[in-house]
Amino acid sequence: METARVEDVVGDFVRLQRAGSNLKGLCPFHNEKTPSFSVSPAKNIYKCFGCGEGGGPVQFMMQHENMSFPEAIRFLANRYKIELQETVQSEEAMQAQQERDSLFLINQFARDFYQKQLFETDRGKSVGLSYFKKRGFSEATLRKFGLGYAPAQKDAFLQEATKHGYPLSQLKALGLVTNYGGDFFRDRVMFTIRNLSGKVIAFAGRIMQKEAKAAKYVNSPETEIYHKSKVLYGMFQAKGPIRKQDECILVEGYTDVISLHQAGVENVVASSGTALTVDQIRLIKRFTPNVKILYDGDAAGIKAALRGLDLVLEQDLNVKVVLLPDGEDPDSYLQKVGSTVFKEYLEEKAEDFIVFKAGYLMKSTERDPIAKSNAIKDIVGSISKIPDPLKRSVYIKECSNLTGVSEEVLYQEVNKNLGGQLKKNREDKAAAAKRADAADTRQVGKENLPLRAPEGPNLPGAPVVSKDYYQERDVIRILVAGGDQYYDENKGISVGRFLLMNMEDILEDFQDKTLQKLAKDYLKQLEDNKNPGKNYFINHPDESLSKLSIDLMSSPHEYSENWEKKHEVFLDQNNPEENFIKDAEIAIKRLKIRKIKGRMEVVKKKISTIGEEQAKEMMTHLRLYGKYKAIHDQLAKDLGSVIT
Ligand code: CTP
Ligand code: MN
Repeated sequence: METARVEDVVGDFVRLQRAGSNLKGLCPFHNEKTPSFSVSPAKNIYKCFGCGEGGGPVQFMMQHENMSFPEAIRFLANRYKIELQETVQSEEAMQAQQERDSLFLINQFARDFYQKQLFETDRGKSVGLSYFKKRGFSEATLRKFGLGYAPAQKDAFLQEATKHGYPLSQLKALGLVTNYGGDFFRDRVMFTIRNLSGKVIAFAGRIMQKEAKAAKYVNSPETEIYHKSKVLYGMFQAKGPIRKQDECILVEGYTDVISLHQAGVENVVASSGTALTVDQIRLIKRFTPNVKILYDGDAAGIKAALRGLDLVLEQDLNVKVVLLPDGEDPDSYLQKVGSTVFKEYLEEKAEDFIVFKAGYLMKSTERDPIAKSNAIKDIVGSISKIPDPLKRSVYIKECSNLTGVSEEVLYQEVNKNLGGQLKKNREDKAAAAKRADAADTRQVGKENLPLRAPEGPNLPGAPVVSKDYYQERDVIRILVAGGDQYYDENKGISVGRFLLMNMEDILEDFQDKTLQKLAKDYLKQLEDNKNPGKNYFINHPDESLSKLSIDLMSSPHEYSENWEKKHEVFLDQNNPEENFIKDAEIAIKRLKIRKIKGRMEVVKKKISTIGEEQAKEMMTHLRLYGKYKAIHDQLAKDLGSVIT
């Protein structure tokens, strides 16, 4: 397998970009926003510094495509046209592999069967082929997409499959044959659904009559190899073009995908008529951050587009929407106007989601102030889903222009939503932790485990302070003194909110209990959509907090010259009021790096006590350590670039 190039194999599934002698991309094995997945062509390996997955081309196919070892070897051998000597395998591995293999094999057999029916039988030609021809699909297109025809007899496929020795149980398991022992797909034109590596995983059959009583499409059921919510139709053919064009066009129907392909628009996939799922969006995200939603021009199409929108925004993708003329779907409109006009239309009519949504919602509400305010709330709701505050502020400006509502008011509304989300995050996390605790009391690998660093030694005579005291104190000082300030270019988020969002995960790691209490109190305030300033804390009913606040407010002057070096706190206090933002960013990273270091120490200690025989536990801890190390290194790198 030395011939298999890791950058090619991985590159089929992940968008990679050069980074020195390596390539980088978003890790396909965990959800992340900044790339920590690295591919080294020189070493022919990949490694994710976020989740720890790593290996060579074979391991990648095994992990990513759920292949067994021999499956992966065979896949790569096939790709690189290598003659393969079948290696001897364990009985067990062979059986598991055969099971899955045989399902794919049967599906492939079925695809060939339906295709043969379409091209080689009289009935197939006169009914199926003529149907496709009428719809303008060329023979090359029919073959490329594995289109076919399922005959009308009640068990034509079953008989053929049985003749070839395929067991009834598996035919049923794949949904090709019904429980009553007849063909599931009958007298329908057939669409083949493939996974990312091109294997046939399911089918859809379309009825050909116009005014039929039966369902227009019937689809394969969920099976061991087909999970509808994770599949986008056409992704196998589209992934290359999507990466190349750095954009994914999303349509609803099978026929839309095929038609557009034939017209030369190849970066297109279909959600297959159902609501988009997070898995599907993440699938797109592996190849591009840019999505163009192209839905039918009727009310249902608009609704569907709007429904998918928030989910796509939440996953931090850039969204444009193209609305087709009323009554058209991409396929029909393309057939009507031809590919040149169609492509121009896509370019010209693509609207940024906010323009699209605002335009649509505002149109119907011009004279009704209540409806208008609801519409604005709805739009702002979508904007609140965007994780990137900078992007959010751009959209707020745009929204303000479109609706005539002031940016200030829109910010208030967005912040209200964010407060709710913050609370929900915490509740989700708490619930998840509870579930996890119930499932496994040890929970070594969980991020939310409150691992605490060992207390540092205190100098004799010095006041008793914990090891991370100065870093904790610095963050809280900024919180109290400048938490209510807003980022300038970026008003959507206050300094306090920024800090809390970034320390939610280390709140439990705080060593100084009073500082921790203040942080938690601040979080509570944010959740209630308040933006507490100095006065709130100075006048706090809890005396320990008000005392602390006053102390913190007067502390900038207590710094000595060596303070910075001694306590690793970066100071730029010439003009404190203007430095909150910069300070906040640095202080939070300083603190996080301490906390991560603390966790690393704990894990390291633990590792030294685990015996060789507990291999699994050892692995878990090593992995955890690697994960912390990666976070630590990233923070250190960030800090380095901020300071210099
Ligand atoms: N769909 C389905 N079952 C149905 C109707 C629709 O699974 N009974 C899914 C299919 O994936 C279909 C998509 O929803 O492709 C969009 O539906 P529709 O626009 O009705 O079908 P088209 O694929 O556009 O088919 P045609 O062009 O032949 O109308
Ligand atoms: Mn359609």
